[in-house]
Amino acid sequence: MIYDFDKPLNRLGTDCEKWDGLQKRFGAADVLPLWVADMDFPSPEPVVRAIAERAAHPVYGYPMRGEDYYDSFVAWEKKHWGWDVKREWCNYVPGVVCGVAASLMGFTAPGDGVMIMPPVYHPFRNTINAQGRRVVNAPMKLVNDRFEIDFEALERGAKEARALILCSPHNPTGRLFSREELTKIAEICERNDVLVISDEIHSDLVFWGKKHTPFAMVNDWAREHSITLMAPSKTFNVAGLVASITIVPNAKLRAQVDHMIGGWMHIGGGNIFGLVAARAAYAEGEEWYRQMLRYIEGNIDYLDEQLKKRVPQVRLMRPEATYIPLLDCRELTGGALGMTADELQQFMLGSVRAAMNEGTLFGAEGEGFLRINLGTQRANLEEFVRRLEKAAEKLPIRF
Ligand SMILES: Cc1ncc(COP(=O)(O)O)c(C=O)c1O
Repeated sequence: MIYDFDKPLNRLGTDCEKWDGLQKRFGAADVLPLWVADMDFPSPEPVVRAIAERAAHPVYGYPMRGEDYYDSFVAWEKKHWGWDVKREWCNYVPGVVCGVAASLMGFTAPGDGVMIMPPVYHPFRNTINAQGRRVVNAPMKLVNDRFEIDFEALERGAKEARALILCSPHNPTGRLFSREELTKIAEICERNDVLVISDEIHSDLVFWGKKHTPFAMVNDWAREHSITLMAPSKTFNVAGLVASITIVPNAKLRAQVDHMIGGWMHIGGGNIFGLVAARAAYAEGEEWYRQMLRYIEGNIDYLDEQLKKRVPQVRLMRPEATYIPLLDCRELTGGALGMTADELQQFMLGSVRAAMNEGTLFGAEGEGFLRINLGTQRANLEEFVRRLEKAAEKLPIRF
């Protein structure tokens, strides 16, 4: 089946955060929504069909995941990333952030240090703080305009941390970590006895045939000292169905994670539609998935080329993974214009009429950057470039 990712789709009035939540989040309902990480494309047809078929049965009682529930996910991991996940390592968690929070609750105590690598997905910091743990920053560093892991900062941070929340691939820098980089992280964590909570929600969103390496695969220590979190939500655009997965090879760790999610919080039941969607997505979503990746690659190329040609002072940080890369706006915030982070956001909202996430949301390291969502119809990106070009002409210094 050929999917038409260019086809316009009106999401207004569907209780969706990205479009219906604009007024609340940005104070303007008529701006182009290029924020929050979901895509404006319909989910794969087999997913839509599976949900419709299940919805046709009018009893929506407690769901149960059968023995074979994880088979399609296990096969997916093997096929795409060569990871031999055992069915018994897997369990349900509603959301990935919820899995991160449960892991922190289970394995750290108030006051413990928890390391993150900013600029990074902001709920990590929020949940560490909310649980009275201590944020230990090991910031990524800009090397030749590319964010790289700062291994010295990681080594320093590991000495005062009980756990590392790894974001791999890394949101918002779009970095896909190599096996060598992940092995170095594992060695640092092993030396310092740091548990790794590996958020791999973006692991399927890697471009141009590159390969994701699951952290637990890099060596024996990593397998036995990590909790991996994955989900169909980004891959197949089903974030609203809350059906994420914990993968914990170490039986002792697994028992504790399962206890936190199933026993302590009693949130291991799940949603009947998430269950049928996840199973169908991993089993039958491949065709859609491949076409979606090609479309996003086209979006990346389009935006990159157009910005270079028409608004060269705003640069796309080309992502290796994730459809939510950074726009480098440091020529607007630095130099002669010298906009503050707030002024940059006001320029985008007020003059360009586009809503993106502020880089500073992800940490101070995000200053001068905005995060843009490329999981949308190309026409929306064309409109964005048109608006940006026009607004830029009115800035005191012409591009
Ligand atoms: C790195 C990362 N982790 C987790 C999430 C959210 O996961 P969930 O909705 O399953 O909690 C996102 C969403 O953007 C994300 O980018």
